[in-house]
Amino acid sequence: MKLVFAKDYEELSARGAELFFSQVKLKPDSVLGLATGTSPIGLYKKLIEWYESGALDFSRVHTVNLDEYTGLEGTHAQSYRFFMNKYLFDHINIDMANTNVPCGAARDLAAECEKYDALIDSLGGIDMQLLGIGNNGHVGFNEPSEAFACGTNVVKLAESTIEANSRLFSDISEVPTGAITMGCRAIMQAKRVVLLASGPAKAEIIKKACFGPVTPQVPASILQLHPDCTVIMDAEAAKLVAGC
Ligand code: F6R
Repeated sequence: MKLVFAKDYEELSARGAELFFSQVKLKPDSVLGLATGTSPIGLYKKLIEWYESGALDFSRVHTVNLDEYTGLEGTHAQSYRFFMNKYLFDHINIDMANTNVPCGAARDLAAECEKYDALIDSLGGIDMQLLGIGNNGHVGFNEPSEAFACGTNVVKLAESTIEANSRLFSDISEVPTGAITMGCRAIMQAKRVVLLASGPAKAEIIKKACFGPVTPQVPASILQLHPDCTVIMDAEAAKLVAGC
């Protein structure tokens, strides 16, 4: 794991965006694995700025998102498809047909999982995967459990995840309780992984994920075994890591 220490969210976003900038510059037909949540919004903003200034071209890029709430159509304002359109895709020259988010509203979710893994394989895997980290160590929506989930899978969200995500809903009862998420295989097979951690709520889990034992109880800890994983953290998220 390479650890990058940023002063604040802005610097963290810039450091992360630079990695995606070079990825797309060096391989214009890159397959980017993308995430939602608060952590990547600043990074997406930088990519949009570079696109607008003519420095970046997304016309040949494909994307695969990590996850989606089950039961939500992509048109729902809380869906991750809606999020991605709003914070990135609607502002760059990506072909929407090349953007992929698991379908949380699929009738047959098991079939959707298989389809999503087959899609990732058909794209040749992921060149660069962006991740956030849950307060409980989840990556994608792979929650702490007895074993690392391999393929794309349907999960019941942990209470702590529902609580954390309720900040984006008008009431906690509106937060979906399930999700479909890319599993650890596609994430670990990504050629490069970039994880962003910002804010004091991430401090404990970042220490565990980077320096604790590799265990499915802290799903992000599996990234210690990835050959090219960069963890970018701001000062608040890094406060327990100093001296490790
Ligand atoms: C989102 C995702 C989640 C988030 C994590 C952190 O697509 O897969 O794992 O990355 O919950 O969320 P934020 O960035 O909002 O703290």
